[in-house]
This record gives sequence, structure tokens and C-alpha cells, in this order.
Amino acid sequence: MKHSIALVTGTTSGLGYAAARTLAGEGWREIIVTGRSLARIQETAAQLAAETQKKVFTPLDLELDKPSSVQSALAALVNRGRPIDFLLLNAGMVPGKKRVLTAAGIEASQAPLIGHHQLTVGLLRANLLSPNARIVIAGSEAARGDVPLFRYTDVAAFAAKHYEGDRSAAVEDLLRSGPNVHYQPNRAYADAKLIVAWWAAALARRLPPDIAVYTVSPGSTPDTKGVRNAGPALKWLLVPLVKLIPGMSHTPETAAQRYLQASKFGTDVSGQFFASAPRKLTGPIEAMRQPHFHDRANQEAAWQAVVRVSGADNSTN
Ligand SMILES: NC(=O)c1ccc[n+]([C@@H]2O[C@H](COP(=O)([O-])OP(=O)(O)OC[C@H]3O[C@@H](n4cnc5c(N)ncnc54)[C@H](OP(=O)(O)O)[C@@H]3O)[C@@H](O)[C@H]2O)c1
Repeated sequence: MKHSIALVTGTTSGLGYAAARTLAGEGWREIIVTGRSLARIQETAAQLAAETQKKVFTPLDLELDKPSSVQSALAALVNRGRPIDFLLLNAGMVPGKKRVLTAAGIEASQAPLIGHHQLTVGLLRANLLSPNARIVIAGSEAARGDVPLFRYTDVAAFAAKHYEGDRSAAVEDLLRSGPNVHYQPNRAYADAKLIVAWWAAALARRLPPDIAVYTVSPGSTPDTKGVRNAGPALKWLLVPLVKLIPGMSHTPETAAQRYLQASKFGTDVSGQFFASAPRKLTGPIEAMRQPHFHDRANQEAAWQAVVRVSGADNSTN
């Protein structure tokens, strides 16, 4: 891909910031950086420009929890009219002990996917992704079921118990952390990242032929603000522990490189989830083979639930 225009969400700290800096280093002509408020993202863009000595950063305010903010960001992008080559949907968060819902009634760690879906569908509909564009969305090894403290929900069983087998209704309940969900922060995060992987797999089937999407886990990267809301077991036990054990964590720069690596993958692996090898949290990335990521019924159920909750349909195929 010709290094041209990238858009990175969640750039005010951590991996989004590192990715924007790395993209500049690799010669991208323009990097649209986003944050929840214009003042903060302007500050971030100025900091990135000072650090890299490159005037390639364009600030854009984007609060993924607010549909009106996504619409304003889309309007600004339509106004510019220049297609994006690399869409890096990095923003995300580990939720805290107390369940938080957005004004639209979405559980806080699920909300970035809803905003990312609205953004992606909006860009596709406005023809603002270049013909060979690459889309990467941040996933996590936490969705695999082999990371201590993180368990994901068996959607088929959950649907059978509460929704007469309707998996889309079950996913919607998870997105909203609704009446049948017993909220636990680590499970909410694992579910959010599992739904991200299903969404990307379903999106891949709906994209124009030369555009591809991948879910990519940046891997264990403690030196970000990612666990600021997390409970004490994760914040004060697991994270400090992984920092001490060789091979259990890496730098934001190494993590961000995973996103960039995936941006060069082909359409043949579109829709797949790339992460550390099973039971590992760092090292080279590979396509995840665990059957729960490849359950087509769950992928489609997740897509339908996200479309319904976001109000943004996929009249792109
Ligand atoms: N660090 C790790 O070990 C690790 C491992 C696997 C996956 N990940 C994933 O990697 C991504 C980046 O995480 P990080 O560790 O770099 O965390 P971070 O330092 O907290 O950065 C997250 C970024 O996302 C933004 N963000 C979160 N929710 C948002 C929303 N609703 N609307 C707009 N912006 C939002 C944050 O903005 P504010 O500051 O305004 O909240 C911040 O800029 C996340 O998706 C995370 O789940 C991280």
C-alpha cells in the first residue's frame, strides 16, 4: 500500500499514541488522530509533531460513546473528501468494578465497538475508504479463554437460557449489559473483545473485494493507561506481575508494530483475529484457531446486534 492517509482512534495515550508516532516514522503522509475532545486531541497532535518533527498529524474530535460525535467526525471527513488507506480502530478500555452505561445504554467497554461500527459503515457509505484500504480493530488475548482472570460468555448457552436460542438478542444483552447479564468487569472486557472479533469476521464478508479487516491484539502492554478503571486484582496484582516476568509484556512501540504489520496483510486473511501464540501474551502474532472465534452463527449474530444497537446498517454490500 502506498503510504498515504491513516486514521487512528484513541490517540491521546497508550497504543494509539505509539501507533500514530510509528506511522509518522514510516512515512505516512497524513495521520488523522482522534480523541474525545478537540482541545485534548489538538494537544496530542502538537506533542506528536514536536516528538517526531513531522507536520503530518490532523486532530479530529471523536467521542465513540456519542453517536452525534461520530456523525460530526464523519461530516468533517466527508468535507475533506480524501479517502483513508489505513483505518486503525484502536480505542478501547478495561471496565471497572461498577457497571457503567453510556447515555445510549451501552456498557462502557462495549461502546467503542458501536462507535467504531458507525464510523466504519459511515466511511464505506461515503466512499471514503480507498479501494485497497486496510481496517484494523484492537482485540485482546483476554477473549481466548486462556488468560488468567478472564472468561468469556458462551453465547449459544446464554441465548438458549434466556432468549429461546436467539443469539443476536443474547449479544445485544451483552452489549447493553442488560437484565440477564451478571456484570463482572473482566468478563465484560473478554466479551467485548470477543464481539469485536466476531464483528470483524462478519464485516469482512461485507467489504468491497480489495478492502480487508483484521482484529489484532496489541499484546500485553502494561505501560499504557489501559487499566486505569480496572479492579485491584488486575491493576495491582496481574499487571505488576507480568511486568516482572520476562516475556510477559512488551513496549507500546512493539505492540503498535503489530497493528502496522497487519495493515500489510492480504485480503486472503481478511476477517481473522491475530494475536500472540496460544497461552502467550507477547511475541509474534498468528491467526487464532480457537473454534469460538470461528462460529459463523455467533459472528452473524454479533453483526446483527451491533447494527441494531448502533442504528447503522450495512447497505455497503
Ligand atoms: N495495553 C494492553 O495490554 C492491551 C492488551 C490488549 C488489548 N488492548 C487494547 O488496545 C487498545 C488501546 O489500549 P491502551 O492500552 O493503549 O489504553 P489507553 O492508554 O487507555 O488508551 C485508550 C485510548 O482509547 C480512548 N478511548 C477509550 N474509550 C473511548 C471512547 N468511548 N471514545 C473515544 N475514545 C476512547 C482513550 O481516550 P480517553 O483517555 O479519553 O479515555 C485513549 O485515547 C484498547 O482497545 C485495548 O482494549 C490493550
